[in-house]
Amino acid sequence: MKIPTKRATGSAHGKIILIGEHSVVHHQPAIAIPFTSATVDVFIDPIIGDVLIDSLYYKGKMKEAPASLNNLKETLHGVTLYLGVQAKDMQITINSKIPAERGMGSSAAVATAFVRALFDYFDRELSHGLLNQFVGVAEKIAHGNPSGIDASVVRSDDAVYFIRNQKTEHFDSHLPAYLVIADTGQEGETIHAVADVGKLVANEQTDGRKWIEELGRLTIEARKKIEEVKVNELGQILTQAQVLLKNLTVSNDALDQLVASAIEHGALGAKLTGGGRGGCMIALVETFEQAETLADKLIEAKAIKTWIHPLGVDNNG
Ligand code: MEV
Repeated sequence: MKIPTKRATGSAHGKIILIGEHSVVHHQPAIAIPFTSATVDVFIDPIIGDVLIDSLYYKGKMKEAPASLNNLKETLHGVTLYLGVQAKDMQITINSKIPAERGMGSSAAVATAFVRALFDYFDRELSHGLLNQFVGVAEKIAHGNPSGIDASVVRSDDAVYFIRNQKTEHFDSHLPAYLVIADTGQEGETIHAVADVGKLVANEQTDGRKWIEELGRLTIEARKKIEEVKVNELGQILTQAQVLLKNLTVSNDALDQLVASAIEHGALGAKLTGGGRGGCMIALVETFEQAETLADKLIEAKAIKTWIHPLGVDNNG
C-alpha cells in the first residue's frame, strides 16, 4: 500500500440532551441538540512506521495507549480490517474542545471525527450507515450500553428527536430562548450511571421503571411545547425531569446546587444533562441578557465554566 501524502481530517461537535437522558437507553424518546460551540478535529499525518497518537490524555504509540483509549484502538482495528489495509504510518492528533465525561458527547464526537479522518486518510467513501456502525462499537466500549443518541447528534446540524433503534427525527427548533450550560468541573461516569439505572429499572421492588416511563411522557410533552413555542411550560417540564433523574440516582450535590441556583435566579427550568453524577447542567431563560446574568450566578455557585446557547433562529448569542 502506498503511504498517503496529505494530511487527513475529520470533525464532529458536542451535543446537549435537552430531555430524555437515561430513559432513552430504555427505549423512551429523547431530545438532543447539536452543541457547535464545542468541536473536535482529528488530523492524521503520514509518517513512516508506527501509529502514534497525540491527545490531551496520552501521547505515544497507539498500541501502548491506556485502557481509556480502548474505544479508539478498537475503532482503528475495525476500520483498517474493513478497508483491508494495515494500521501503520500514521501520526494521529486529536484537538478536542469538548470536555471529557461532562455529558457533552465527547466520546461519540471523538470517535466520529476519528472514523471520518481514517476514511479520509485512506481516501475511501464513508456512508452514514458505516459511520454509525463504527461509532456504535466505540461507544459500546466507552459507555457499555449506549442508546445511540450521542452518535447521531454529534454529526447533526439540527435538533434530534430520538427513539433507540426506531427513530432519528431531525427538526428545527425556533424557540425564542437560550440555554445556559454550566460545568460542575466533575467528571461523570456515564458507564456506571447507565448500569446503575439499568439495575433500578430491572428491580421491580423499586419505582425505576415508572420514573423512566414518566421521563418518556415528559419528553413527548417537551416536544409539543417546543412546537407550540411555549417556553415557560418547557422550563417547568425540564425541572420535573430533574426530580426524576435525581430519583434515578444520577444527580449529585454539585448538580443539585447549580440547578437550585438557576431556579433561584429566575431560570424557567433547569436539570442535569447527559450521564450525570457530575458533568453539566442546563438552565432555560428567555433573553440573552438573562442568560448572561445567570451564567455569572452559576459561576458564583461554583460552576467552572458556562456557555450560552441560543435555541432559536437568532444565533448571535
Ligand atoms: C449520555 O450522553 C446519555 C445517556 O442517556 C446514555 C445513552 O443514551 O447512551 C445517559
